Amino acid sequence: MKLAVLLSGTGRTLDNFHDAISAGRMRGEIQVVVSNVEGVLGLEKARKYGYPAHHAPDNEAINRVLSGYDIDLVLLAGFLKLYRPPENLARRVLNIHPSLIPAFCGTGFYGMRVHRAVWDKGVKVSGCTVHFANDIYDDGPIVVQKCVDISGCSGPDEIADLVFAAECEAYPEAVNLVAEKGVDYFWNRAGGAG
Ligand code: GAR
Repeated sequence: MKLAVLLSGTGRTLDNFHDAISAGRMRGEIQVVVSNVEGVLGLEKARKYGYPAHHAPDNEAINRVLSGYDIDLVLLAGFLKLYRPPENLARRVLNIHPSLIPAFCGTGFYGMRVHRAVWDKGVKVSGCTVHFANDIYDDGPIVVQKCVDISGCSGPDEIADLVFAAECEAYPEAVNLVAEKGVDYFWNRAGGAG
């Protein structure tokens, strides 16, 4: 699997990919990292790891960068805009969201906003979801979900830490599943049984 990573911030998920690939826990090779935000830590980390790293401010610019690489799968890694891929990658974009979709997701729900809403509601179980992205926020077919018991948490920061630890397992697992089963498997069974 030839991977492109899109991010907007600190690149914690990029760290996880790098570690997981190096340890043989995640199938694939990162070909390129793109940030829509200039000067973020995620881009610095990408360069430190030795990946080609680009700033591209909007969708069109991102797709221009990606057209220079051979990519099988695009991984959104804390990318906080709606991404519209080129036609050849339309069903090949994965996203991670820090809640159990369909709860606490959609427009305006990202990062700590999710965990604060979860805390305010008093829910006892949260988690993360890796899913294929479509043209609606947090809407495409789900590949992996992991639950976290947050009944003992004392605030949103603690929830965020527990959920991020679950993300670090869920995303590599999801990439491996897609590598094993193929993209169509997930799109075809969405909404169906089995
Ligand atoms: C992750 O927690 C991810 O779940 C979240 O961004 C964080 C990584 O960003 N993504 C979303 O909320 C997308 N809706 P970071 O690397 O900048 O910390």
